[in-house]
Amino acid sequence: MREDNAQQMADWNGPTGERWLANQVRLDHMLEAFGNAAVEAVKPAEAEHGLDVGCGAGASSLAIARRVGEHGRVLGVDISAPLLDRARASVSVDTPVTFLQADASKAILPECEFDFLFSRFGVMFFDDPVAAFAHLRGALKPGGRLGFICWRAADENEWIRLPLEAVDGIVPRTAPPAPGAPGPLSFSDRERVSRILTSAGFHDIAFKAFDHDMSFGEAGTRKEAIDLAVAMVLEIGVLARTLDQQSEDLRMRASAALRDAFAHRSGERSVRLGGAAWIVTARNPTGREQYGAR
Ligand SMILES: C[S@@+](CC[C@H](N)C(=O)[O-])C[C@H]1O[C@@H](n2cnc3c(N)ncnc32)[C@H](O)[C@@H]1O
Repeated sequence: MREDNAQQMADWNGPTGERWLANQVRLDHMLEAFGNAAVEAVKPAEAEHGLDVGCGAGASSLAIARRVGEHGRVLGVDISAPLLDRARASVSVDTPVTFLQADASKAILPECEFDFLFSRFGVMFFDDPVAAFAHLRGALKPGGRLGFICWRAADENEWIRLPLEAVDGIVPRTAPPAPGAPGPLSFSDRERVSRILTSAGFHDIAFKAFDHDMSFGEAGTRKEAIDLAVAMVLEIGVLARTLDQQSEDLRMRASAALRDAFAHRSGERSVRLGGAAWIVTARNPTGREQYGAR
């Protein structure tokens, strides 16, 4: 049976979407450098048409729109109604961006229309990634570019590793997700991503590591910054879902352990944790490459 991203649809229109929305300003700040690096890799040019996959609240769509200018167009596609409401509210009428609520893996898109496909952490959630990327490739012009950013493995990402280590022995360990299961880390294995993109018909697949620190808490005082960082980890990080199901007492002990771990970090009024991502680029073959010279 063909799977249909139903779980992601429910999550991003439900609790995950609500949490993302509640933290959107801070998340955009934390992810900005990652998005900018991915934009540089896909090199949007004046008057080009771009597709932003899993655009969420639209920050990356706006970043691309600035690059393509008034003669260009950007379409942001996302399954989350609340995040798209936020995205629509943040664009002015003269910005060349429109948003579409749809599952990107089967959205009705114009064929051979876009000069580039882009995503900032929005392509790791497909049940069938090969089918999704093959479908999206159909919307790219021959020779069009693909560029996205996704997380590398948990042990390379301090923002994931440090909180997990801090609560070890307090929070019961849960089984890791099955390799490749849809989720933020499902594209951490570059061999797997390479196989997916090759099977979906892309050429010239390349990976570049991109590392950057993120401010989990930034406030007027060190104490406020630590409180913010703890709240952020409890709401958004990989621990959030596990802790939701635990008793109040255990959550309190986990919070104390996180506070202690963050207090040992450097930074006067912030808690900065390292993030590690792949910037992945590829290309839609030209007609000649696909079908040969006639
Ligand atoms: C980690 S968020 C990133 C959002 C945004 N790109 C950003 O950087 O702020 C992942 C996004 O992918 C979207 N998403 C997940 N599965 C999707 C699908 N099948 N089609 C379209 N969007 C999807 C979610 O709704 C969510 O907005």
